[in-house]
Amino acid sequence: MPSPPDSPAENPPDSPADNPAHNPADNPVNASDLVITGMSGAAEAARRLNAGGVVALPTETVYGLAASADQPAAIARVFAIKGRPVNHPLILHIAELSDLERWAIDIPDVALSLASICWPGPLTLLLRRSERVSEMITGGRDTVAIRIPAHALAQRVLALSGPFVAPSANRFGHVSPTTAAHVLADLAEFLDPHTDGVLDGGPCQIGVESTILDCTVTPMQILRHGGISAEEIEALLLEGSLEAASGPQRASGMLASHYAPRIPVRLVESDFEMRSAIAECGAAGQQISVIDLCSDLVAYARDLYALLRAAENSHSDVIIARLPTAAGLGHAIRDRLHKAAAPR
Ligand code: TXA
Ligand code: MG
Repeated sequence: MPSPPDSPAENPPDSPADNPAHNPADNPVNASDLVITGMSGAAEAARRLNAGGVVALPTETVYGLAASADQPAAIARVFAIKGRPVNHPLILHIAELSDLERWAIDIPDVALSLASICWPGPLTLLLRRSERVSEMITGGRDTVAIRIPAHALAQRVLALSGPFVAPSANRFGHVSPTTAAHVLADLAEFLDPHTDGVLDGGPCQIGVESTILDCTVTPMQILRHGGISAEEIEALLLEGSLEAASGPQRASGMLASHYAPRIPVRLVESDFEMRSAIAECGAAGQQISVIDLCSDLVAYARDLYALLRAAENSHSDVIIARLPTAAGLGHAIRDRLHKAAAPR
């Protein structure tokens, strides 16, 4: 199964949504005022979502910035807070498989069967949207991306609030967050402790985003590699197979530069290349952060974003990261590393 293309989007994104109003400088946000925890925190998160606030919350993949699917003003704030172009559609998170038919139409049997096996879990299905889905969520497309997250706190919020949209809770283009502290570092200044919140559920278990599978085409296409691998999905298919994404770029994660730390990333494939790169950067007087968890891909996926963020917050001038083999979780890790290293 070849990887989706790494080429830049054919159509450059619209200009980012309007800058969100910062909280007044004379009343700076104390990050800890935003944090809520545990099942009581999940109930509070649902209350804030229902009241039109936005809440960052943990999923098994990465933290998402949630807004109720029925609150257009809150969805608009999600775009503004992230600085995300408004034509980049959002993933709808639902509580139950039985909710699917309210939000999607013409659902192929193979998609239903994958959903029944893989949900809750890190698989997002791209389907034809029902009338119920607002155009703000789909960026005006006739498709909608849907998943059920496998995290007890996210599920509790969903049970109490109903479906929510949730892009990764980072500023657009930056490294995705896998802890509440990452979310606060990117977004605290844009959140209001009276109406919004950050639900802290500890570090995310998987660490890379969900796999996005386009079920509106035959054969189905992987638009973004993620927490469930192409091989695992293929093994679940009784007939047919998967194809690499082709045609116009359809997911923002497919832009060449994404998931990018503030310092340059240099990629190596082998021990030999690693040694040469370290020698070269060292000779140039650069401080180096090395990222190489190739011997344990589960740990690599889980820790990748935290390591990229730690490196950019250190005194390092450059990150040298080793690419794993393109198999299993290695597809997603390679994809994120290539985008982190791409020219901005
Ligand atoms: O694991 C995840 O999927 C996380 C957690 C929070 O659930 N969410 C996440 O959302 O990664 P976000 O917005 O960072 O990435 C969603 C990707 C984007 O690249 C977006 O363009 C694509 O999904 N997407 C959403 N709806 C789409 C649609 N209708 N057609 C094509 N791509 C779509
Ligand atoms: Mg994202």
